[in-house]
Amino acid sequence: MVVLVTGSAGQLGQSLQFIAPNYPEIQFLFYTSKELDITNLGQCKLIFSKHQPDFCINAAAYTAVDKAESEPEKAHLINVIGAKNLAEVCKELQTVLLHISTDFVFDGEKKVPYTETDLPNPTGIYGQTKLEGEKAIQNTWEKHFIIRTSWVYSPFGNNFMKTMLRLASERDSISVVNDQIGTPTNAVDLATALIQIILTDNRQPTKNYGIYNFSNEGQCSWYDFAQKIFEVNGISINLQPIATSGFPTPAKRPEFSVLDKTKIKNTFGLEINNWKGSLQELKL
Ligand SMILES: NC(=O)c1ccc[n+]([C@@H]2O[C@H](COP(=O)([O-])OP(=O)(O)OC[C@H]3O[C@@H](n4cnc5c(N)ncnc54)[C@H](OP(=O)(O)O)[C@@H]3O)[C@@H](O)[C@H]2O)c1
Repeated sequence: MVVLVTGSAGQLGQSLQFIAPNYPEIQFLFYTSKELDITNLGQCKLIFSKHQPDFCINAAAYTAVDKAESEPEKAHLINVIGAKNLAEVCKELQTVLLHISTDFVFDGEKKVPYTETDLPNPTGIYGQTKLEGEKAIQNTWEKHFIIRTSWVYSPFGNNFMKTMLRLASERDSISVVNDQIGTPTNAVDLATALIQIILTDNRQPTKNYGIYNFSNEGQCSWYDFAQKIFEVNGISINLQPIATSGFPTPAKRPEFSVLDKTKIKNTFGLEINNWKGSLQELKL
C-alpha cells in the first residue's frame, strides 16, 4: 500500500514520519512543499501519476491564523486551490484523500462539543479558507476523509507548547488567556488515528467517507494547557490567567471549540488518549 504525504516538513508531516517505521506494510512517500507544491496542479499530476498512491494525506496547509487576515489570497491559494488540486488528481487515480481541517470552522458560540453536523461559521480568514477547502474536496471527489482537529502540538515545527517553553526560558512571568476553551491534540496521536483510518479503509473499503472530528479527550483553556506544559517539564514560572480582551489578536478565535469524537471512535474503533496523559508522555 502506498501512502503519499504532502507538507511533510510540518508538525503533522513530521509526526507521520516519526510513526512510519511502525507500519512496514505501508510504503510512505513524504513530500515537502519544495518537492510538491499543492497549488501547482501540473506538478501534483506528475508526481501522483508516477507513484499511483492508494491514499494521500494532505498535511500541507496555510496555518498562520493571524497572518491570514492580511494575506487572504495566499491562504486561499493553499487551503482552497491546493485542496481542490489534490482532490482532482486523487479522483483521476482513484486515490483516497485524507485532508485535515480545523475547529476554527466554528464560531465558538456553542457550550457543548461540536459534532460533524453542526453548522460551521468561521470567524476569520484561516477558518474561512479551511471551510472552503473542505467544500472544494466534497464537490470534487467522494472518496475523502476530512478530519477536523484542534490545538495541535508536537516536538516538531511551531506550536503553542514550544512557544511556552521558549518564553519560559526568556521571561519570569507569562500571561495566557483563560476564556477560550478547546482540546489540545498531540500530533502523534492525530497521525496514528489517520493511519488507523487508512488501515481500516484498505482492509474493507466502505461508505465511511466524510467529515470526522479528532482531538485528544477532555477540555481546557490555553491557561490550563500552559500550566500543564510547565508542570510536566518541571518548570516553575509565574503564570497569570488573562481574558481574551486583554490579549488582542488580528484574528478572532472561537471561545469554545471542543470537538465531539463519538463518530470517529465508533466508525474506526479508536481509543483516544486524554490530553493531559498524552502531553505527559511527550515530556521533552
Ligand atoms: N496547528 C494547529 O494547531 C492546527 C489546528 C487545527 C487544524 N490544523 C490543521 O492540521 C493540518 C496540519 O497542520 P500543522 O500544524 O502540521 O501545520 P504546519 O506545521 O504549519 O505545516 C504545514 C506544512 O504545509 C506546508 N505547505 C504550505 N504551503 C504548501 C504548498 N503550497 N504545498 C505543499 N506544502 C505546503 C508547509 O511548508 P512550508 O513551511 O515550506 O511553507 C508546512 O510544512 C493543517 O491542515 C492545519 O490546518 C492545525
